[in-house]
Amino acid sequence: MQHQKFSYKHLDELKEDIRRSGVDLPVSEQLDILKTSLPVYGKIFPNRLAIHPMEGCDGTSEGAPDELSFRRYERFGAGGAGLLWVEACAVTREGRSNARHLYLNRENFPEFKNLFDNMMAAAKAVSGNDFRPYTVLQLTHAGRYSKPHARVSVAENPYLDPFSNPDRAIITDDDLEHLEDQYVETALLARDIGFDAVDIKACHRYLINEQLSAFTREGRYGGSFENRIRFLLNIIEKVKARTDMDITIRMNAYDAIPHPYGWGTDEDGNPSLDEPRRLMQILWEKGVRMVNITTGNPYYNPHIGRAADVGPYIAPEHPVESAARMLNIIRELKNAAPSMTLVGTGFSWFREYGAHIAAGCIEKGWMDIAGFGRQSFAYPDFARDIIKEGTMFRRKCCIACTKCTELMRFGGQAGCVIKDSKVYLSIWREATARRTMMSDRVGKHV
Ligand SMILES: Cc1cc2nc3c(=O)[nH]c(=O)nc-3n(C[C@H](O)[C@H](O)[C@H](O)COP(=O)(O)O)c2cc1C
Repeated sequence: MQHQKFSYKHLDELKEDIRRSGVDLPVSEQLDILKTSLPVYGKIFPNRLAIHPMEGCDGTSEGAPDELSFRRYERFGAGGAGLLWVEACAVTREGRSNARHLYLNRENFPEFKNLFDNMMAAAKAVSGNDFRPYTVLQLTHAGRYSKPHARVSVAENPYLDPFSNPDRAIITDDDLEHLEDQYVETALLARDIGFDAVDIKACHRYLINEQLSAFTREGRYGGSFENRIRFLLNIIEKVKARTDMDITIRMNAYDAIPHPYGWGTDEDGNPSLDEPRRLMQILWEKGVRMVNITTGNPYYNPHIGRAADVGPYIAPEHPVESAARMLNIIRELKNAAPSMTLVGTGFSWFREYGAHIAAGCIEKGWMDIAGFGRQSFAYPDFARDIIKEGTMFRRKCCIACTKCTELMRFGGQAGCVIKDSKVYLSIWREATARRTMMSDRVGKHV
């Protein structure tokens, strides 16, 4: 079906569109399952709602959290979600994707510790002293999307190279091995801050996701399945050797970039999940108990990972189809590793009905936890409303306008321009004025 904006006035209208588009997408009238607790890693997650990792691009030039980072995480903590997945944090200065990207290191450890403590204090202040959300810090290297430092990729890619900076170099095997140790050092800092887990980020075509699809690379990190997963598994093993903290992965299951240049994708660009399924089973054997699944590349094919209504990129399909594809992929991976706790993605476009889709997917066993990305910028207390009021309110919802992403691409701090306008509208105006002067476009789309 053709692209359409969200226009549903009643859940039945959405159900009718789902039926018309012929996709399989469960919708539940009952939201109670979202309030239930869940044991994972020997701990109790207080409910089934997560704040997804969402970069705010609002750190200091040295990578420490700044004023707006503190504000965001206090709001996230107060929001009532049982799983707080803190955004992509670079493991090296060169691995940052923008000049305000968070980068955890020994010097700025105290600021990160304050950020964490404030977030947890806000959670307790609003949800009660017994409320203890599970916390994850996402660790990343931006790879071909590193900025302002030199970009590195793991292999040439005819689909992505034309839209990446030509000064990019292919990272050597020795540098990859050294980088493994940087992940470990940052994981140890995350543990000392108090995070329950680190996420070794393997999605959205940043470095480790590229590594998974390095079919054409030679050497010990390219070619065979074993070589392509080596970097990720080495990091897991090295972290495990130094600490017993929990390890999780945010993983792309489908890049939508044809084989041999995309992961989880066949020659025609369709999902081909054999390798992601195999990796899930290996991760389980390595002690990983939770994986957060996503798809696509936000710079190249954004609709694959986040349906939107408007913006500079108009998807070639109906947003219901985009979301259903991702949610059905998650279902297939859950079938392949039923004991693994899966966090799902794809609910923000559905406004308040995102809660009904989330409840439907969890009831049917497609996933265990529903994560919300853009919705958490617009409506950080969506979880509290679901739990206390039994609903999400339309007036507070994300309108899938893509402005948070555009803010990020145009050098602003990212947040919701519409629902949090008192902070982000002026930042948006400045960023869009700057945009016309931008010479460094890193991607085809924003
Ligand atoms: C501004 C912005 C920042 C994001 N930052 C991250 C990030 O740090 N790590 C990550 O894994 N995904 C990141 N994402 C992707 C989201 O976590 C999520 O997968 C995506 O928005 C789709 O979910 P949604 O439909 O609930 O928004 C970001 C997305 C946006 C729009």
